[in-house]
Amino acid sequence: MFSIAVIFTCVILTIFIRFIFHVRKQYNFWNEKGVPSTKPIFFFGHLKDFIFGKRHLAFILDDAYKAFPDARYVGIYDILKPNLIIKDPELVGNILIKDFSHFHDRVPASSNSHRLNHHIARLPGKSWNLIRSKLNPTFSTIKLKSMFDLMESFSDTLDSYVKDYVTSNKFIDAKEVMGKYTTDVIGNCIFGLEFDALKDMNSKYWDISQKVFAITPKSIAWTILRSVNPILLNDNIIASNMYIFYSAGFDTPSTTLSYCLYDLALHPEIQERVRAEIMKVLEANNGILTYDSLNDLVYTEMVLSETLRIHNPGSSFRRLCTKTYPIPNSSLVLKPGDRLTIPVYSIHHDEKNFPNPSKFDPERFSEENKKKIKPYTYLAFGDGPRICIANKFAMMEMKICLKTLLKKYKFSPCSKTEIPLEINPRATQAQFPPKNGVWLKVSEI
Ligand SMILES: *[C@@H]1O[C@H](CO)[C@@H](O)[C@H](O)[C@H]1NC(C)=O
Repeated sequence: MFSIAVIFTCVILTIFIRFIFHVRKQYNFWNEKGVPSTKPIFFFGHLKDFIFGKRHLAFILDDAYKAFPDARYVGIYDILKPNLIIKDPELVGNILIKDFSHFHDRVPASSNSHRLNHHIARLPGKSWNLIRSKLNPTFSTIKLKSMFDLMESFSDTLDSYVKDYVTSNKFIDAKEVMGKYTTDVIGNCIFGLEFDALKDMNSKYWDISQKVFAITPKSIAWTILRSVNPILLNDNIIASNMYIFYSAGFDTPSTTLSYCLYDLALHPEIQERVRAEIMKVLEANNGILTYDSLNDLVYTEMVLSETLRIHNPGSSFRRLCTKTYPIPNSSLVLKPGDRLTIPVYSIHHDEKNFPNPSKFDPERFSEENKKKIKPYTYLAFGDGPRICIANKFAMMEMKICLKTLLKKYKFSPCSKTEIPLEINPRATQAQFPPKNGVWLKVSEI
């Protein structure tokens, strides 16, 4: 009996010691390669505060990014796995475009077998090509034009929804309104269904939208898909793409729009300029917005671009090295399976790329200044072959929405407005949502 206990203890101890050695060896990875890296925390690597829901991943990456001002890249550990954070914009360009063939893939999901992981953002090389080319026509100019009318058809609903807040003199949570609006739009444009999130207080789709991000995204997404079309469930790839269309199509523009209203509320003079431009474009077109006149909303687009620079929902994205890659002008060689991260938030907030980075300044995106932006330092939609497939769709949706809101209403800060907004630390890297909503006062002009 005694000896069994001793043997058992020895085995456990040996395993434990080996584990400690393994972790320590892992944490030497970047040192051995001469890559700058801050000290990891035992077992958690650099992700402790993220895992415990204390800080958003973007800020954790930003600490590493800032720790070595002149480095072209820095190393961190995702728990035990080394992850290279790319800082040098030229190298970002190489990875996303020039040497794309070495970085075809995103980092695979932990449970690759899950049916909803076969969507376009996650699919590896070959299947990605195939699906991307099949999905591209979804966002062709002709399709976009027909979606324009669908989107426009929600303007009245949005208008009366907001009007209720004006009449009842209640503060409005821009995050909630914009979430409902984009739920309706995506439901109609992509699924061809009336989700009625704005009209119906008890819309099950709005309820689902909330849950998609609040609890367990995948299981809830299945609920939606099942209620949408049971036949789709036979095809993992279609189902997965419906899921990403829904989540990217609902969450990304709604967060961006709510941040935009927040920034406009804090900068009344900019809000006034956007409104003036919208009024001018409407006047020139008999009071309505047309597909072609979207292009005349130049300043509005500058404002949205600046919103996306400061609060980009895709706060970072990852790539997987699939073919040996010697980093140019460096002795570091990436091997297949190595992970890397493009820290969009940090690149967008780097003084070297955007002077006075926390200042909301749409002029950075004027025709003239835009040319001066360093290549690959503005990554609101990513870049290269894997650039966001729906960027035009999103821009169109956001412009239509701002037109509807600003033409009649004025947004300003109120006692409930949180300045600055706290970011939800539990969000994934593809989301950058405010934690407590975006409370504003809305009044009629
Ligand atoms: C590497 O160095 C060469 C020569 O200085 C330069 O032209 C090139 O842009 C550099 N490449 C990267 C990715 O930094």
